[in-house]
Amino acid sequence: MGMVTIPQEALPDGGPPSPEQAHRWCQQLEEGNILFFPKTPIALPDEDVRFLLTLEQTSSGLHKNLAYKPAIDRVSGADVKGADSAASERLHRILRDYSQNVTEFLKNFLMPYQSRWQLDYGSFRPQEEQGRDLPLRRRNDLMHTDAFPTRPTHGARILRFFNNLHPTKTRDWITGEPFRALVPQFAPQQIALPREQSTLTRWTAKAACGMGLGRAIPELKRSPYDDFMMRLHNFLKENEDYQAQGKREAWFLPPGSSWMVYTDMVPHAVLAGQYALEQTYLVAPEAMVAPEHSPLGVLQALTGKKLV
Ligand SMILES: [Fe+2]
Repeated sequence: MGMVTIPQEALPDGGPPSPEQAHRWCQQLEEGNILFFPKTPIALPDEDVRFLLTLEQTSSGLHKNLAYKPAIDRVSGADVKGADSAASERLHRILRDYSQNVTEFLKNFLMPYQSRWQLDYGSFRPQEEQGRDLPLRRRNDLMHTDAFPTRPTHGARILRFFNNLHPTKTRDWITGEPFRALVPQFAPQQIALPREQSTLTRWTAKAACGMGLGRAIPELKRSPYDDFMMRLHNFLKENEDYQAQGKREAWFLPPGSSWMVYTDMVPHAVLAGQYALEQTYLVAPEAMVAPEHSPLGVLQALTGKKLV
């Protein structure tokens, strides 16, 4: 496990990669590797990058992480309101282009998935990560696996694609052993494994979501899998031993590079870096080429239970 570097020459000009090659890339991701592109395969016009880098200085409100929601084509964050409308529109267009370009690239690069993913949020992260003052559970510099408190995935995988836009500085990550090796290290009483959901609860949850009630009754929206993933996220961040002594590797991701990783299975933390673009995908569990490595596959094997 670690990092797999994708050299420029491995990317065919225009056309799709061979099915065998694309399958290998999916497999490497699902085994818990970071796929790293020393030179980003995503087209990012220089003037757009310059605009993003100067946004903070020119529009005083635009200094926090900004989310782009592809499903409704909106940039969220009250901060945007403070900016002048031309800057807001330009930011919106750049984030929309980025989301579409990454998705277009991944359609071929990860062909075995056949786009069986849901486009989740994208984001622009202009703040320096080193020394950010955030509540413990929201800190990015503590090792964790990703889980979304308000958006359960029901076993769908969290795949994230990043670009380091900083003109000179690396983005500094640490990663730990992936899920399959991680979870068995903790005694069951430290981190309770999920229990199977009863058929009745599963049926009620599905019916509630079908009637649009899922949002009103959040516990019905979450499967035992989602509960566990959220608990694991919090447990890792709060576990001082793991933070101090857990196995880790350091990565210094250079300006102009891209990388992607399943952040629900690879514990990670960002220690330093500024100006990143990111797009998240929720990849269908049925699309996995190596489901035995997935958090759902590992947990169902450990518990012998159906968890979504
Ligand atoms: Fe994360």
